[in-house]
Amino acid sequence: MIADLEHEPVVERLRRRVGETSGLVDAPLDSPMLQPYEVYDQDLFDLEMVRVYARSWVWLGDTEDLVEPGDFITGTIGYQPVMVIRQEDGSVRGFLNNCRHRASGLLYEPAGNCGKTMTCPYHNWAYDIDGRLIGIPDRARMYPDDLPTSDYGLAPIRIEVAWDKLVFGCLSRKAPPFREWIAPLAERYDLYKFGTFTRYHRELDQTYPINWKAFAENSNDDYHVRFVHRRLNKLRKQMDTIVRFEGRTCSGFKPHSEEEDATGGRTDLTHEQLLGHYADFIYPNLTPLPYPTQLILVRADPLAVDRTRLFSRIYGIDKSIEEQDFELDRLATTNLEDTNMVTELMKNLRSPFYRVGPASTWEGRAAHVMKLVRADVASPLADDEFSGPLPAN
Ligand code: FES
Ligand SMILES: [Fe+2]
Repeated sequence: MIADLEHEPVVERLRRRVGETSGLVDAPLDSPMLQPYEVYDQDLFDLEMVRVYARSWVWLGDTEDLVEPGDFITGTIGYQPVMVIRQEDGSVRGFLNNCRHRASGLLYEPAGNCGKTMTCPYHNWAYDIDGRLIGIPDRARMYPDDLPTSDYGLAPIRIEVAWDKLVFGCLSRKAPPFREWIAPLAERYDLYKFGTFTRYHRELDQTYPINWKAFAENSNDDYHVRFVHRRLNKLRKQMDTIVRFEGRTCSGFKPHSEEEDATGGRTDLTHEQLLGHYADFIYPNLTPLPYPTQLILVRADPLAVDRTRLFSRIYGIDKSIEEQDFELDRLATTNLEDTNMVTELMKNLRSPFYRVGPASTWEGRAAHVMKLVRADVASPLADDEFSGPLPAN
């Protein structure tokens, strides 16, 4: 299989490089954490875009932008631009955001309404919002031998609207249904009723000189929190974390101090949920932090080996603009503390001599994520990974 042929040379080349520079740093313990040679390699990154991202469920947005027929959101899954459109019948469908003629995109805004059709800016091929190709300018002259129009509709992808709110997309036909993907979190998340939360009035969107796995490692590291985010220690008065990881999700439960009541008067959650918040992770690139009355989402979009876009939104119940700004500013500070630290690591991860140290118990979920990435990168795609009808989610 072609895919096997691609993976082996990448891994072998990386191993040879490591072998050549060994000896300067002694690392007696094997470590599952992010290895320096996994950070800057373009071939490995390209494999990740297909073997990790193209077979994962990726968060794309929410239903607040998908109310009327023709309402759409755009996004990317790895390198692949995608779109999600509300249909005339009320359903929500997803497609690759690529014209079938040349590589042009069809929808350009992050969100909007495209009416009943989309027209490509390059040669004006037109598509119905259900994906059918419905117009080719000057068709008789350009394609005198005709062409099979129905075979040139937009390529459909799997879409899941979770908790009546959050929109996820998946390119693979073989990936498990979304509910199975997030199984360890599913029941806990059902209880929050995210469908009743509303989006805060602005979002955070910035690009940093870091590798997406370095951010994933940081997001799943409960050990650094009290040091890198020390300004929060006074507020929290509670340093504990319960680390959990299973399947494609991770979780760090942070109990709040007894003086802090963040329940917002809710009583319809579990005792643990009412007692604190969670720093969760949905593989491969989403960090949700659910509280009883607030949900923070931070997504890391890989742009290049050393470039990652962090896109964050917060949702909540009954929050004034001032409260929203307070939370958004606090998240911006937290993101900056993390990205400053990881940017610093990125410089040193260039060194061919550095060898990574052991994972502590509070980095258990980071180690878990690194193993998931490696396992995906090492497993070839199915022959029909992307073909055939869309499976039910
Ligand atoms: S690229 Fe879309 S019509 Fe030519
Ligand atoms: Fe952090």
